[in-house]
Amino acid sequence: MSSIRLPLGALSAHADGALRRYRAGFRSVWVWRSGERVRGYYDSCTHQGGALQQRGEAMVCARHHATFDAVSGQRIAGEAPEGSILPPAELAVEDGKIVLFLPDNDV
Ligand code: FES
Repeated sequence: MSSIRLPLGALSAHADGALRRYRAGFRSVWVWRSGERVRGYYDSCTHQGGALQQRGEAMVCARHHATFDAVSGQRIAGEAPEGSILPPAELAVEDGKIVLFLPDNDV
């Protein structure tokens, strides 16, 4: 059970239907918003852990250019294994803030 909570930012500051990267300590998380719902993935390519960059509706790895869908986190093309999905981040909206939950052993 996750119990460590890291506020990432105000939901109102994140445009509806937009993808945005947040940093929380040494973590980097991509968050996609749809209305009051958020979905997110850690900034770590499923090939060799490269950092991602936004390109339109997708995220592209800076190392070998694997491409991932911004909404599902699923690999679309490139060097990352077929069928792979970016590591999901546990997120919620609480009191108008986007909150990242971490496992107890992640500190
Ligand atoms: S590390 Fe991302 S494509 Fe190789």
